[in-house]
This record gives sequence, C-alpha cells and structure tokens, in this order.
Amino acid sequence: MSLRVTDVKMLLGGRLVEGGISIQDGRISRIGKTLHLPKSETNIDGKGLIAIPGLIDVHVHLRDMELAYKEDFSSGTLAAAAGGFTTILDMPNTKPPTTSEERLREKIERAKATIHVNVGFYGALAESAIELRAMIHAGAIAFKLYMNEPNPEAWHHDPRRLLSSLEESASLGVQVACHAETGAEVAKIQRECQAEGKNSVRDFLRAHAPEFEAEAVRRITSLSRRVRASVHLCHMSTQRALKEISIARRAGTAVTCEATPHHLLLDQKDLSRKGGLAIMVPPLRKTSDARALWRSLAEGRVDVVASDHAPHSLEEKTATDVWAVKPGIPGLETTLPLLLTRVKRREISLNRIVQALAENPARIFGLPGKGRLAAGTDGDIVLINPKERFKIDSSTFYSKARFSPFDGLECVGRPVTTIVSGRIVYDRGEIVEKNRGEVVTSEVRPRSSSSTAC
Ligand code: DOR
Ligand code: ZN
Ligand code: ZN
Repeated sequence: MSLRVTDVKMLLGGRLVEGGISIQDGRISRIGKTLHLPKSETNIDGKGLIAIPGLIDVHVHLRDMELAYKEDFSSGTLAAAAGGFTTILDMPNTKPPTTSEERLREKIERAKATIHVNVGFYGALAESAIELRAMIHAGAIAFKLYMNEPNPEAWHHDPRRLLSSLEESASLGVQVACHAETGAEVAKIQRECQAEGKNSVRDFLRAHAPEFEAEAVRRITSLSRRVRASVHLCHMSTQRALKEISIARRAGTAVTCEATPHHLLLDQKDLSRKGGLAIMVPPLRKTSDARALWRSLAEGRVDVVASDHAPHSLEEKTATDVWAVKPGIPGLETTLPLLLTRVKRREISLNRIVQALAENPARIFGLPGKGRLAAGTDGDIVLINPKERFKIDSSTFYSKARFSPFDGLECVGRPVTTIVSGRIVYDRGEIVEKNRGEVVTSEVRPRSSSSTAC
C-alpha cells in the first residue's frame, strides 16, 4: 500500500520546504521534490496545505467501559483523528481504574478492535514493584500519579512509599505523569464549604487554590530528584507552579511539563461567564497566569501542549451545585485550530507548536518513529490548511461531549487530512477509513543495572 502527498509545504527541521512525501507500507519512505517521488496507489494534492507530523496528545481520557456514555474508544479516537492527533495516551482513571496488569490487558484487548488512531495506555502508579513491572510488560506506556487523591490514607501520600515507587519507575525507564494538587488540602476546604452550604464557583476556586498546585510540584520534584525519576507535570496552570519547576530544574531534577489550551487561552473571567462548562481541575486561573504559561510555552519552558480531553455528559456539566459538576472539558477537536489561530496572529511559531504537540511528546514518552517527518518514521501525518476560517461548533464534534467553553470562537487554520500509518483516516470533515489505530507500548529501557526487566 503506497500513498503520496505532492506539492505540499512540509515542516522540516523547523523550516517550511516545498515538496512531497511518499509512504510505503505504513512508513515514510521518501521526502523530497515532488518530481523525484515514485508513483503511488493514492495521491493527495497538497497545494495550499502544510504537512506536519501526526500530533501526539499525551493526556486524554478516552473513558469507555462503564463510562462509555461519556466517551468510548471509537468516539474518542474519531475525535482525535478530526483534531489532527494520530497518537493519544489514555489516562487510567476509568471505571474500573487501570490499577493492575489484568485491568490493563482487558483495556488493551477491548481497544484493539475499535481504535481509529494509535493509542497508548497509562497504568495508575502502584506501590508494588511487581505490579509496576507487570503493567509495563503488559504494554503500559507510562504511569499516572494523582496527588489530588482526597483520601489522606492513600499510600502515595506517604513520602517514603512514594519514593520507592518512583525509584522503581525510574529503573524501568518510564515517565511518571502527575496531577499536581495536594488532595488532602483541597478536600478539607471542599468539606468545609459543603458543610456551610457554600457551592459557588468562587468556593470551588478557593478549594483548588494556586498554592496547592505549587506545593504538589515542590513535593514531587524533590522526591523524584532523590531517585532520579523523570516526572511529567500535567496541566500546569499557575505562575507559581512554573516558578517551582524552574527551581527544580536548576537543582538538576528531570522534570517536564505540559499546559492545556484552556489554561493557556482562558481565565477566570471565562469561568464566570460559562459556569460549569468551564469547570475543570486545576481550574481556570488569573489572566496573569495564562500569560505566564503562554510565555513559557513560546520560550520552550513548557514542553508539551496536551488537551486533557475529559468528556462528560451535558447533565454532569450543568448541575447548579458546583461540587456536583464533573470537572473536565473535551479538547481533541479544538486544540490544533486554537493554536494555529495564534500562529496566524504571530504570537507563536508553527515550529514551536509542532515541538509541543509532536516532537517533545514523542521524546518524553519514548515513542520512536513518531513526532517528526523523516524517511523511516511512521506514516502518521496531518495536512493543515493555515488559512481556513471557521467557528468552533461543539455540535459537530465526533466526541460524545458536545460542549466547549470555546464554542463560537473564530479560528484560522485547521486540520484537513489525518493520515495514520499511511492510510487516510480523516479528510475534510469525513471519516474515510476506520480501525487503523494500533496500541502503542513502551520499550522497556531499564536505567539501573540492579533492575531486571523480566
Ligand atoms: O478536569 C479534570 N477532569 N481534571 C482531572 O484531573 C480529571 C479529569 C477527568 O477525568 O474528568
Ligand atoms: Zn489531572
Ligand atoms: Zn486529565
């Protein structure tokens, strides 16, 4: 099976170059002048379009199983294809949660038949070294730690126990992605508010205070430094947290971080306007926080943009009691257009966007063959039209979550064609071919000689 994109602008080595791309049997076989490319079974005329590597979203809640009413593997990966993502990493806070090798195997088996882009799976960070190894061998791409767990008795709230789990993860050479909010503190304020009948957005913001994020960043980076673990901090939302990251980096900690489009582009004024539809954790912050995040992204201190695609039903988003609103918003179908709009306004470069949405995710999460356009890499490509204008309309989403705080916003630039392993999966609003996704697994890369990867 061969495919060719001709007369297209390609983002190569940070520059736009005119030419074409050949894909043979799922991999890029050649990049060069259109005239020099071999003939192929399928030809795409790329005039007016830009080819970038298939995007990688390292933070997606695909749900499925008992939460399939919110999203399932099929609807979530269709949303990914429509948004230009060819690989996504699924979070373990599902029902049932991905807390063991057995649960992970069940999930992978179920996903195999119904995914339309590539999917990797997180396992929940476990205390047991045996379980951690078993999950990696069953295919987990990384581990996820929820520091916002409200139960103060949870094993990972004990620094010694967490340290040993981080050490094991380091020896397995995998990332630990982390939701950085100190759960016991958040839960305490929430309980107090609930006892006093306080249930407004302002109360929600008080419970999810910026200092709880900064404190969690301090705790996890200082532990990971001690055992040389690599932590990836999810959805950073405040200037204070970014400052803690800088301090940790200066002290030699291997830490990477991500920002979401909503924390980059929205703030608490949007939250007052949109109410539950703009509730997520961590919550939207001050304008100054969003600006600081944006600066850090533009300057390369924020490594990754991830959507934190967190679908819920409309009923779950519109409860009047703020504590009953399920936090999270869909993001797979809005992330790329929102960022391309900022490229058009010259607020950031296309190259920087592609680094944050493809190159860096591939490097950080160990996905060789993904995240860049080069001969020999996987045939995962997105063609974008940088000039197309459209309004975000959540009623057209492939995701089951048909709401968005960005609804009605005019964007310039959108994905036109999404190619997975050399097959056209999505083209100009339509799904062309289904079930082309593969489950991606981590390569086990033991870092310490004492660890035996078996
Ligand atoms: O807003 C959020 N939604 N934040 C999280 O950490 C979890 C997520 C979800 O699973 O809905
Ligand atoms: Zn989170
Ligand atoms: Zn999340």
